[in-house]
Amino acid sequence: MATRSIGQSLLKPLCFIAIAALSLTAESRAMTDKIEASALRVEYLEQPDNIDTRTPRFSWVLTSTRRGAAQTAWQIRAATSPERLAAGDADLWDSDKVIGQQTNQIAYAGRTLASREDCFWQVRVWDEFGEASTWSPPTRWRMGLLSSADWSADWITFRDDSSVHSDRNKLLLPPARHYRKQFAISKEVRRAIIHASALGLYDLYCNGQRVGDAYFQPGWSDYHQRAYYRSHDVTALVRAHGENALGAVVADGWYAGYVGFGLLVGYGPEKSGRSLYGKTPAFIAQLELDYTDGTHETVVTDPTWRVTDRGPTREADLLMGETYDARAELGNWSEPGYNDNAWDHAVAADSNPIAKAMFYEGTGQREVNLGFVRPPKMKAYNGPPVCVTQELPAQSVSEPTPGVFVYDLGQNFAGVIRLKIKGSAGEQIRIRHAEMLKPDGTLMTENLRKARATDTYTLRGDPAGETWSPRFTYHGFRYVELTGLATPPPIEAVTGLVLHSDTPPTGNFECSDPVMSRFARNAQWTQHSNFVEIPTDCPQRDERLGWTGDVQAYIGTAVLNADVAAFFTKWMDDLNESQRSFGAYPDYAPYPMAHGAARKTFGSAWTDVGIICPWTIWQTYGDTGMLQRHWDSMTRFMEWRWAGTTPEGLGTQLGNPWGDWLNIGEPTPLDFIDTCYLALDLRMMEEMARAIGRPLEAQSYLVCLNKLKAAFRKKYLTPEGGVTISTQTAQVLALSADLIPAEQAEAVVGALAGNIEQNNFRMKTGFLGTKSLLPMLSAHGRHDLAVRLFQSRQFPSWGYEVVNGATTVWERWDSYTTEHGFNGVNGKQNARMNSFSHYAFGAVMEWAYRTLAGIDSDGVGFRRIIIRPRPPAPDSNPAATPVNWVKADYTCINGKITSAWTRENNRFVLDVTIPANTTGTIYLPTATPAAITEGGLSLAEGKILGIAAVSAERNETRVEVTAGSYHFVVSLDP
Ligand code: BGC
Repeated sequence: MATRSIGQSLLKPLCFIAIAALSLTAESRAMTDKIEASALRVEYLEQPDNIDTRTPRFSWVLTSTRRGAAQTAWQIRAATSPERLAAGDADLWDSDKVIGQQTNQIAYAGRTLASREDCFWQVRVWDEFGEASTWSPPTRWRMGLLSSADWSADWITFRDDSSVHSDRNKLLLPPARHYRKQFAISKEVRRAIIHASALGLYDLYCNGQRVGDAYFQPGWSDYHQRAYYRSHDVTALVRAHGENALGAVVADGWYAGYVGFGLLVGYGPEKSGRSLYGKTPAFIAQLELDYTDGTHETVVTDPTWRVTDRGPTREADLLMGETYDARAELGNWSEPGYNDNAWDHAVAADSNPIAKAMFYEGTGQREVNLGFVRPPKMKAYNGPPVCVTQELPAQSVSEPTPGVFVYDLGQNFAGVIRLKIKGSAGEQIRIRHAEMLKPDGTLMTENLRKARATDTYTLRGDPAGETWSPRFTYHGFRYVELTGLATPPPIEAVTGLVLHSDTPPTGNFECSDPVMSRFARNAQWTQHSNFVEIPTDCPQRDERLGWTGDVQAYIGTAVLNADVAAFFTKWMDDLNESQRSFGAYPDYAPYPMAHGAARKTFGSAWTDVGIICPWTIWQTYGDTGMLQRHWDSMTRFMEWRWAGTTPEGLGTQLGNPWGDWLNIGEPTPLDFIDTCYLALDLRMMEEMARAIGRPLEAQSYLVCLNKLKAAFRKKYLTPEGGVTISTQTAQVLALSADLIPAEQAEAVVGALAGNIEQNNFRMKTGFLGTKSLLPMLSAHGRHDLAVRLFQSRQFPSWGYEVVNGATTVWERWDSYTTEHGFNGVNGKQNARMNSFSHYAFGAVMEWAYRTLAGIDSDGVGFRRIIIRPRPPAPDSNPAATPVNWVKADYTCINGKITSAWTRENNRFVLDVTIPANTTGTIYLPTATPAAITEGGLSLAEGKILGIAAVSAERNETRVEVTAGSYHFVVSLDP
């Protein structure tokens, strides 16, 4: 394998030792594990139920711990039945043997796929010796409904003549409705699939059983443009030759319930903060029965369905909470034979009257119709479902005042509780939630603002006890308060159910500083809590919106902590859909109510998410499909963005003036920030244009970037090499946007470091500056300072939060301080905005993975991996022992990468794993290869299996390796 050149003009090789990669002999190969393809996925999902693209993309991961394991060719076959597939009859697609290493982003290229098709597929691969693996176990995907003509069901709802809610002082919290339909099946069923959606949220039932375990279906979209549908396989639930029933519980959700800060500020219809899309939830379902005799039948929502509002779920609101009266449970309501005579007839959703209202928002007011508007498009849900991923038993229970029981679940999280309780019928338990306690041990709820976050359960009085958990709400909390109980409840009465979009964890980071290991976990928890259907700012108060500034700051960490490919595939559609007519991406997405004045519904850095997000997904997963899908939208954005610059090509302050949001007393001019983000956009657009074969566009972005850079130098750089704006953030942003010529970088970093040192080694940066502060210090010779800031415990720092009890990342550096408690210096911050679960400042974890642990991608998609750990100098921090070991792993799209290093007594030990089918470039902290061993063998002597080349450069040794695990020991100069 050839050694690649990395900036060789800068790095003068001191010595170079070429070592031929050793090959395994045939005999030893037989002893090692063989290469196999596993983790087969379609469009990033395992066995998806409704794919609505005709060219879905496949991926797999190769398992083999053998050094040098690599794929040289692959073959996919896909068939319409498992039997056909097993017989090798690939009637959908046989790719034949394709030479290449590709294992993901492989688009289907078989015969045209049709709606509803069941597709079975498998893959085999050829290894580096040309030997074929066995065929992988078969897996499947199912096609969704590709055309609107595939829908024969129509939207149904209940008769709703109510007036539009207009009393801001009174919550309107309607009950969830139950719908049901009984029908007969007279034949043998081969397959039963139900496609369902709601304007609101639905839970589906079939013959008395809940279908699936996902929450908040069908998902949040701009219902006026598009509604998601889900598809459920109910073959095992329907009864052949007999009576059957379907049921659904439908609640307000994002469609009709309270959303965001609308109630607080008086946005939405009649300033009510609710019914942002419409006032009457509706439901649609289509059960498609395929019989063994080849015939089909369909059961659809229509006015023959029955509906009632007299079920147990009396209130169901995402922000306000759920109220459940177990005495009103409806028994076997979703089973056949249930007597629904007392239920109403459902009505066609479009038969309800038009409901005109005045809609208030930042841009002004407009008249809207809150009656039914048919979503013009039905889209198969393409994200991971929201579900319970973990249960948290209560750690303790206290009684701060008589009859008030406070449970501590030990962890701030998003979700609900499961209540397990005994009592008499009619006893009503109020369940409140909070992130923090006041000094007297009672709940601190001021920071929830208008989110009531209260659930209520009324017992039916079952002597065997009762178990309940809400379905249509969630809260951000650690503490739970129960009141209204006749007798003190046991600790087992409350269990936390952790809810989030099911994004499989991919990253772990631990280090010798336990406070920062805890912080790493806090960032993961905060990510869970805020990746609930969309990337939200916070899970607790009346906000929970997809704030774009937060996403752009954090996405670099998000992609390392979890597999968020499907999650962002879904959210990018939401973002696209909310793009402003003039080109900007807005403050948050989805965007049900405008924040900011007309044509100011965006902010610098916030709006740039529309470029930063696809770029990051592409970099991480090699997903050029996302770039292609959003290219027109991104182009429109860039046209608008460039048109807003000064004649010299510099940024301006046009939108909402958030700037370096939540900085500590050191704001950075908005036009400067805008310029830096524009430069980032231009660079990313140039790279993305090249990646998808648009060289002319790439060139024009480069021309714009060069123009901007020249103007930046003229306006913002001093002859001595400094930046005229001396804030920490200004210098960080200029460096990270590559606006500082190489020869001046040292001066800028010197000034940045000076600012930090003069501030007693403390940051002043907000959301924007913090993200790149440590990366820029490390990249430009001040790595020890970066590590010192990372490990700081003084205010403001990540460590300060942890030593003050944080289990998630706080919104503000001063969300809590020992001097001012929750209230900040102004005394009022808590009731305004003070979340204890906001991910933006957690963006530092990208640096922890990429720089401190040293796991990075060389190019796009982690096909070539860099491991370059950066231990700080042992004596570089008078305030703490600098980090002296790190253990990190990241499961990239090609498999698991690990980097675990220890530095002690002039020895540096590094354990690395490079996944099969990738290669690694490992940097070790000595310029003397003879001071390094791998597996006990000296690197200088060569002939180590898997090591292809070794070269020494400045103060490092660079080792090129094939896939496999390696154990390096480096003797450092004393
Ligand atoms: C959110 C932020 C967001 C900001 C815009 C806040 O209320 O919680 O995280 O980016 O508004 O300034």
